[in-house]
Amino acid sequence: MMLQVQNVSCRYGGFTAVDEVSLSLQPKEILGIAGTNGAGKSTLFAAIAGQQSASSGKILFEDHDISKMPPYLRAQRGLVRTFQVPREFKSLTVHENLLAAAPNPQGEQLFASLITTAARKHREQILTDKADHILSFLNLTNVRDTQASQLSGGQKKLLELGRVLMLDPRCILLDEPFAGVNPVLIEEICQHVHTLNAQGIAFIVIEHHLQALKSLTKRLIVMDRGAVLAEGDPQSVLDDPRVQQAYMGGVA
Ligand SMILES: Nc1ncnc2c1ncn2[C@@H]1O[C@H](COP(=O)(O)OP(=O)(O)OP(=O)(O)O)[C@@H](O)[C@H]1O
Ligand SMILES: [Mg+2]
Repeated sequence: MMLQVQNVSCRYGGFTAVDEVSLSLQPKEILGIAGTNGAGKSTLFAAIAGQQSASSGKILFEDHDISKMPPYLRAQRGLVRTFQVPREFKSLTVHENLLAAAPNPQGEQLFASLITTAARKHREQILTDKADHILSFLNLTNVRDTQASQLSGGQKKLLELGRVLMLDPRCILLDEPFAGVNPVLIEEICQHVHTLNAQGIAFIVIEHHLQALKSLTKRLIVMDRGAVLAEGDPQSVLDDPRVQQAYMGGVA
Protein backbone atom coordinates (compact mmCIF):
# COMPACT_ATOMS: atom_id res chain seq x y z
CA MET A 1 0.00 0.00 0.00
CA MET A 2 1.16 3.53 -0.66
CA LEU A 3 -0.95 5.11 2.06
CA GLN A 4 -2.85 3.62 4.99
CA VAL A 5 -5.11 5.63 7.23
CA GLN A 6 -6.00 3.55 10.26
CA ASN A 7 -8.88 4.54 12.56
CA VAL A 8 -8.01 8.23 12.42
CA SER A 9 -10.07 10.72 14.42
CA CYS A 10 -9.67 14.51 14.54
CA ARG A 11 -11.26 16.83 17.04
CA TYR A 12 -11.77 20.57 17.14
CA GLY A 13 -12.26 21.10 20.86
CA GLY A 14 -15.10 18.79 21.83
CA PHE A 15 -16.31 18.34 18.24
CA THR A 16 -15.27 15.20 16.34
CA ALA A 17 -14.78 16.25 12.70
CA VAL A 18 -13.22 12.94 11.59
CA ASP A 19 -14.43 9.85 13.37
CA GLU A 20 -12.42 6.61 13.17
CA VAL A 21 -11.75 6.82 9.43
CA SER A 22 -9.76 4.08 7.73
CA LEU A 23 -8.78 4.01 4.08
CA SER A 24 -5.96 2.83 1.91
CA LEU A 25 -4.45 3.92 -1.38
CA GLN A 26 -2.51 1.70 -3.72
CA PRO A 27 0.51 2.90 -5.67
CA LYS A 28 -0.60 4.72 -8.85
CA GLU A 29 -4.25 4.66 -7.80
CA ILE A 30 -6.67 7.59 -8.10
CA LEU A 31 -9.14 7.50 -5.20
CA GLY A 32 -12.13 9.83 -5.03
CA ILE A 33 -13.71 11.25 -1.88
CA ALA A 34 -17.15 12.84 -2.00
CA GLY A 35 -19.54 13.80 0.77
CA THR A 36 -21.78 16.49 2.11
CA ASN A 37 -20.52 19.87 3.35
CA GLY A 38 -18.82 19.57 6.70
CA ALA A 39 -18.40 15.79 6.39
CA GLY A 40 -14.75 16.05 7.44
CA LYS A 41 -13.08 15.60 4.03
CA SER A 42 -10.68 18.55 4.25
CA THR A 43 -9.92 17.77 7.88
CA LEU A 44 -9.00 14.24 6.83
CA PHE A 45 -6.58 15.69 4.23
CA ALA A 46 -5.11 17.95 6.91
CA ALA A 47 -4.54 14.90 9.10
CA ILE A 48 -2.90 12.95 6.26
CA ALA A 49 -0.66 15.85 5.16
CA GLY A 50 0.14 16.93 8.72
CA GLN A 51 -1.49 20.35 9.18
CA GLN A 52 -3.89 18.82 11.71
CA SER A 53 -2.79 16.26 14.25
CA ALA A 54 -5.01 13.21 14.60
CA SER A 55 -6.34 12.71 18.11
CA SER A 56 -6.17 8.97 17.58
CA GLY A 57 -5.25 6.47 14.90
CA LYS A 58 -2.26 5.98 12.67
CA ILE A 59 -1.14 7.09 9.20
CA LEU A 60 1.39 5.03 7.25
CA PHE A 61 3.03 6.25 4.04
CA GLU A 62 4.89 3.51 2.21
CA ASP A 63 4.91 1.52 5.45
CA HIS A 64 6.48 4.36 7.50
CA ASP A 65 4.47 5.72 10.39
CA ILE A 66 4.18 9.43 9.55
CA SER A 67 1.46 10.20 12.14
CA LYS A 68 3.67 12.56 14.15
CA MET A 69 5.69 14.09 11.31
CA PRO A 70 5.40 17.79 10.43
CA PRO A 71 4.03 18.55 6.95
CA TYR A 72 7.43 19.38 5.39
CA LEU A 73 8.83 15.95 6.31
CA ARG A 74 5.76 14.24 4.82
CA ALA A 75 6.29 16.37 1.68
CA GLN A 76 9.94 15.30 1.57
CA ARG A 77 8.72 11.71 1.47
CA GLY A 78 6.52 12.61 -1.51
CA LEU A 79 3.14 13.19 0.15
CA VAL A 80 1.64 16.61 -0.59
CA ARG A 81 -1.74 18.31 -0.70
CA THR A 82 -3.48 21.26 -2.30
CA PHE A 83 -5.93 23.46 -0.41
CA GLN A 84 -9.62 23.95 -1.07
CA VAL A 85 -9.06 27.72 -1.10
CA PRO A 86 -5.86 28.23 -3.13
CA ARG A 87 -2.99 29.65 -1.07
CA GLU A 88 -0.99 31.49 -3.69
CA PHE A 89 1.20 34.48 -2.78
CA LYS A 90 -0.96 37.16 -4.36
CA SER A 91 1.74 39.78 -4.94
CA LEU A 92 4.22 37.34 -6.49
CA THR A 93 4.15 36.34 -10.13
CA VAL A 94 3.06 32.87 -11.16
CA HIS A 95 6.68 31.83 -11.76
CA GLU A 96 7.80 33.28 -8.42
CA ASN A 97 5.01 31.37 -6.70
CA LEU A 98 6.49 28.12 -8.01
CA LEU A 99 9.99 29.11 -6.88
CA ALA A 100 8.60 29.92 -3.42
CA ALA A 101 7.16 26.40 -3.23
CA ALA A 102 10.50 24.71 -3.95
CA PRO A 103 11.86 22.50 -1.19
CA ASN A 104 13.82 24.35 1.43
CA PRO A 105 15.97 21.78 3.21
CA GLN A 106 16.58 22.40 6.88
CA GLY A 107 19.78 24.29 7.52
CA GLU A 108 19.94 25.54 3.96
CA GLN A 109 20.31 29.18 4.96
CA LEU A 110 23.43 28.51 6.97
CA PHE A 111 24.74 26.29 4.22
CA ALA A 112 23.89 28.84 1.54
CA SER A 113 26.20 31.40 3.11
CA LEU A 114 29.07 28.93 2.82
CA ILE A 115 28.67 27.74 -0.74
CA THR A 116 29.93 29.70 -3.68
CA THR A 117 27.82 32.16 -5.62
CA ALA A 118 28.33 29.99 -8.68
CA ALA A 119 26.87 26.93 -6.99
CA ARG A 120 23.93 28.97 -5.72
CA LYS A 121 23.32 30.39 -9.18
CA HIS A 122 23.41 26.89 -10.60
CA ARG A 123 20.73 25.73 -8.13
CA GLU A 124 18.59 28.78 -8.90
CA GLN A 125 18.86 28.03 -12.61
CA ILE A 126 17.75 24.44 -12.04
CA LEU A 127 14.71 25.62 -10.04
CA THR A 128 13.89 28.28 -12.64
CA ASP A 129 13.98 25.69 -15.40
CA LYS A 130 11.91 23.27 -13.34
CA ALA A 131 9.26 25.95 -12.71
CA ASP A 132 9.18 26.80 -16.42
CA HIS A 133 8.80 23.13 -17.30
CA ILE A 134 5.83 22.81 -14.91
CA LEU A 135 4.23 26.01 -16.27
CA SER A 136 4.56 24.65 -19.78
CA PHE A 137 3.00 21.33 -18.75
CA LEU A 138 0.07 23.16 -17.13
CA ASN A 139 -0.37 25.56 -20.09
CA LEU A 140 0.38 28.52 -17.83
CA THR A 141 3.43 29.86 -19.68
CA ASN A 142 1.39 32.79 -21.02
CA VAL A 143 0.79 34.02 -17.44
CA ARG A 144 4.33 33.22 -16.20
CA ASP A 145 5.06 36.83 -15.18
CA THR A 146 1.51 37.79 -14.19
CA GLN A 147 0.74 38.54 -10.56
CA ALA A 148 -1.05 35.56 -9.03
CA SER A 149 -3.85 37.84 -7.81
CA GLN A 150 -4.81 38.44 -11.47
CA LEU A 151 -5.49 34.77 -12.25
CA SER A 152 -8.94 33.29 -12.80
CA GLY A 153 -10.28 30.78 -10.28
CA GLY A 154 -9.35 27.88 -12.56
CA GLN A 155 -5.84 29.21 -13.17
CA LYS A 156 -5.36 29.50 -9.40
CA LYS A 157 -6.28 25.83 -9.07
CA LEU A 158 -3.69 25.01 -11.74
CA LEU A 159 -1.10 27.12 -9.92
CA GLU A 160 -1.93 25.26 -6.71
CA LEU A 161 -1.18 22.01 -8.57
CA GLY A 162 2.00 23.51 -10.02
CA ARG A 163 3.24 24.51 -6.58
CA VAL A 164 3.00 20.94 -5.27
CA LEU A 165 4.64 19.59 -8.44
CA MET A 166 7.75 21.60 -7.47
CA LEU A 167 8.10 19.11 -4.59
CA ASP A 168 8.45 16.04 -6.85
CA PRO A 169 5.50 14.30 -5.20
CA ARG A 170 4.57 10.66 -5.47
CA CYS A 171 1.14 11.12 -3.90
CA ILE A 172 -1.01 14.25 -4.31
CA LEU A 173 -4.13 15.04 -2.29
CA LEU A 174 -6.33 17.42 -4.32
CA ASP A 175 -8.99 19.29 -2.33
CA GLU A 176 -11.82 20.32 -4.68
CA PRO A 177 -9.73 20.99 -7.79
CA PHE A 178 -12.87 21.74 -9.85
CA ALA A 179 -14.66 24.14 -7.51
CA GLY A 180 -15.37 27.40 -9.32
CA VAL A 181 -13.63 26.15 -12.48
CA ASN A 182 -15.23 26.39 -15.92
CA PRO A 183 -16.03 23.12 -17.78
CA VAL A 184 -13.22 23.50 -20.33
CA LEU A 185 -10.61 23.93 -17.61
CA ILE A 186 -12.14 21.05 -15.60
CA GLU A 187 -11.50 18.82 -18.61
CA GLU A 188 -7.94 20.16 -18.84
CA ILE A 189 -7.26 19.56 -15.13
CA CYS A 190 -8.59 15.99 -15.53
CA GLN A 191 -6.14 15.46 -18.39
CA HIS A 192 -3.24 16.72 -16.26
CA VAL A 193 -4.22 14.35 -13.46
CA HIS A 194 -4.37 11.41 -15.88
CA THR A 195 -0.98 12.35 -17.39
CA LEU A 196 0.67 12.68 -13.97
CA ASN A 197 -0.98 9.44 -12.86
CA ALA A 198 0.43 7.67 -15.94
CA GLN A 199 3.85 8.91 -14.81
CA GLY A 200 3.31 7.09 -11.51
CA ILE A 201 1.80 9.71 -9.19
CA ALA A 202 -1.07 8.50 -6.98
CA PHE A 203 -3.97 10.83 -6.16
CA ILE A 204 -6.77 11.25 -3.68
CA VAL A 205 -9.30 13.75 -5.02
CA ILE A 206 -12.00 15.40 -2.90
CA GLU A 207 -14.75 16.73 -5.12
CA HIS A 208 -18.41 17.72 -5.12
CA HIS A 209 -18.48 17.63 -8.94
CA LEU A 210 -19.45 13.97 -9.16
CA GLN A 211 -19.43 13.61 -12.96
CA ALA A 212 -15.85 14.88 -13.17
CA LEU A 213 -14.88 12.70 -10.23
CA LYS A 214 -16.36 9.62 -11.91
CA SER A 215 -14.25 10.28 -15.01
CA LEU A 216 -11.11 10.31 -12.84
CA THR A 217 -11.56 7.47 -10.39
CA LYS A 218 -12.39 3.78 -10.30
CA ARG A 219 -12.89 3.81 -6.54
CA LEU A 220 -14.94 6.27 -4.55
CA ILE A 221 -15.43 6.89 -0.84
CA VAL A 222 -18.37 8.91 0.46
CA MET A 223 -18.04 10.54 3.86
CA ASP A 224 -20.85 11.74 6.06
CA ARG A 225 -20.60 13.37 9.49
CA GLY A 226 -16.95 12.45 9.97
CA ALA A 227 -17.23 8.81 8.96
CA VAL A 228 -16.93 6.68 5.82
CA LEU A 229 -20.47 5.96 4.66
CA ALA A 230 -19.78 3.91 1.54
CA GLU A 231 -16.85 2.75 -0.55
CA GLY A 232 -16.51 0.99 -3.90
CA ASP A 233 -16.87 1.59 -7.62
CA PRO A 234 -18.28 5.09 -8.18
CA GLN A 235 -21.64 4.21 -9.69
CA SER A 236 -22.61 1.61 -7.09
CA VAL A 237 -21.50 3.95 -4.28
CA LEU A 238 -23.61 6.78 -5.68
CA ASP A 239 -26.56 4.39 -6.11
CA ASP A 240 -26.26 3.25 -2.48
CA PRO A 241 -29.50 4.22 -0.67
CA ARG A 242 -27.50 5.43 2.37
CA VAL A 243 -25.55 7.79 0.12
CA GLN A 244 -28.74 8.98 -1.58
CA GLN A 245 -30.22 9.56 1.87
CA ALA A 246 -27.17 11.53 3.06
CA TYR A 247 -27.42 13.81 0.05
CA MET A 248 -31.22 14.03 0.60
CA GLY A 249 -32.42 14.71 -2.88
CA GLY A 250 -30.38 12.36 -4.95
CA VAL A 251 -27.02 12.57 -6.70
CA ALA A 252 -25.87 12.40 -10.30
N1 LIG B 1 -10.58 25.02 12.37
C1 LIG B 1 -11.77 24.52 12.74
N2 LIG B 1 -12.25 24.71 13.97
C2 LIG B 1 -13.45 24.19 14.36
N3 LIG B 1 -14.24 23.45 13.55
C3 LIG B 1 -13.79 23.24 12.29
C4 LIG B 1 -12.55 23.74 11.83
N4 LIG B 1 -12.38 23.35 10.54
C5 LIG B 1 -13.47 22.62 10.23
N5 LIG B 1 -14.32 22.56 11.27
C6 LIG B 1 -15.60 21.84 11.32
O1 LIG B 1 -15.31 20.47 11.12
C7 LIG B 1 -16.29 19.87 10.27
C8 LIG B 1 -15.59 19.27 9.07
O2 LIG B 1 -15.07 20.33 8.28
P1 LIG B 1 -14.30 20.04 6.91
O3 LIG B 1 -13.83 21.34 6.40
O4 LIG B 1 -13.29 18.98 7.14
O5 LIG B 1 -15.47 19.45 6.01
P2 LIG B 1 -15.51 19.16 4.45
O6 LIG B 1 -16.07 17.79 4.28
O7 LIG B 1 -14.20 19.45 3.83
O8 LIG B 1 -16.63 20.19 3.96
P3 LIG B 1 -16.75 21.02 2.57
O9 LIG B 1 -17.30 20.05 1.56
O10 LIG B 1 -17.73 22.09 2.89
O11 LIG B 1 -15.39 21.53 2.21
C9 LIG B 1 -17.29 20.97 9.94
O12 LIG B 1 -18.38 20.87 10.83
C10 LIG B 1 -16.52 22.25 10.18
O13 LIG B 1 -17.39 23.29 10.57
MG1 LIG C 1 -13.55 20.77 2.45
